[in-house]
Amino acid sequence: MLGITGSIAAYKSCLIIRQLIKKGAEVQVVITPAGKEFITPITLSALTSKPVISEFFAQRDGTWHSHVDLGLWADAMLIAPATASTIGKMANGVADNMLITTYLSMKAPVFIAPAMDLDMYAHPSTQQNLKTLQSYGNHIIEPGTGFLASKLEGKGRMEEPENIVARLEQFFAQQESASLSSSMNGKKVLITAGPTYEKIDPVRFIGNYSSGKMGFALANECAARGAQVELVCGPVSSSMQVTHPNIHRTNVESAREMYEACKALYPSMNSAILCAAVADYAPEHTAEQKIKRTADDMVIRLKPNPDIAASLGQMKQQGQTLVGFALETNDEESNAQAKLKKKNFDFIVLNSLKDEGAGFRTDTNKVTIITAETKKDYPLKSKEEVAKDIVDELERL
Ligand code: PMT
Repeated sequence: MLGITGSIAAYKSCLIIRQLIKKGAEVQVVITPAGKEFITPITLSALTSKPVISEFFAQRDGTWHSHVDLGLWADAMLIAPATASTIGKMANGVADNMLITTYLSMKAPVFIAPAMDLDMYAHPSTQQNLKTLQSYGNHIIEPGTGFLASKLEGKGRMEEPENIVARLEQFFAQQESASLSSSMNGKKVLITAGPTYEKIDPVRFIGNYSSGKMGFALANECAARGAQVELVCGPVSSSMQVTHPNIHRTNVESAREMYEACKALYPSMNSAILCAAVADYAPEHTAEQKIKRTADDMVIRLKPNPDIAASLGQMKQQGQTLVGFALETNDEESNAQAKLKKKNFDFIVLNSLKDEGAGFRTDTNKVTIITAETKKDYPLKSKEEVAKDIVDELERL
């Protein structure tokens, strides 16, 4: 349930709706009369594919919107932007519009993102009302850094839409892991993700196409099942973010850095899932200056990188599990079997670049899970679904 009130930040509600829907949410807008001065119900209903609620009576035929039903329907209510006036009415039960009556009937957790002029925000009555709402168990999403930055200009600013959505996501993730009773509860899992970059000179590197999507999906799945996740991550796009509070992320660049991080972490872990695409070789020397073009051929001598998987396989103690991946282009199964043994994995997840929609960068993957005794083929699925299959297998172990 998204409540919109009469603030200039109302246009940002569109971005909030878009991001929520992209993440799979169903969004119902309830808007105050002042809110409609800033953004039209037509825009909002086009974005949510639902009629926007603003009046008690939808038509003149006596049918009316039930704020009680709305209060039961929602999994969360977000009021963004929330003006000083709405915050005051909410704190004091002044139920003179549809948004406030819906708020008063709300059974789900409520999040409030204030947006107003700095002086109004700083006023003792606003601060008191926010405290009151907090004492009722509502979650206040304080204006973010934008607010502080604009302090000098004397204008308040609502927290950015992506941060508001991240806050909701974090809340739901916490709820989910609390409700999931799983053998992963409290278990510590190390996950590697993404590519590694091996420096040739200050501007060039040897890398690969791994996006980190598969590894991040595994981290989210383990965290959702209650595990404490150490995510060691190579250089991935800045859009790759984790929000689950159970995930601690360490960013590295090269295979050697990933190796050092993993070696230090693995002894205190219950399991590790090695999903990163680690460069097997690195330039023997990294040039200090940018290498200049000449007419001659160029040879870069490479030296082998540490094999993280094989090292952890050697360190593995009784009760610890180690899961690896195999990315193959040919002789898939026999190569995967060989890696399973050589690296002392408990099972290996084979994906082949021969399968369309599998491997690097895609949102999907098609895997075979191979243990010393068994082999199971899975169909093409989203990486989130594949992560569930892999973590199910880990839980079985
Ligand atoms: O990141 P995405 O775009 O979502 O793509 C996902 C993926 C294709 C990268 C992933 O599904 C995958 O297959 N990861 C492993 C890629 C790989 O490097 O495979 P490999 O067969 O070369 O290595 C075998 C295993 O040893 C892997 O678990 C690898 O992490 C590990 N390894 C390899 C080399 C090395 N020096 N150290 C290692 O630990």
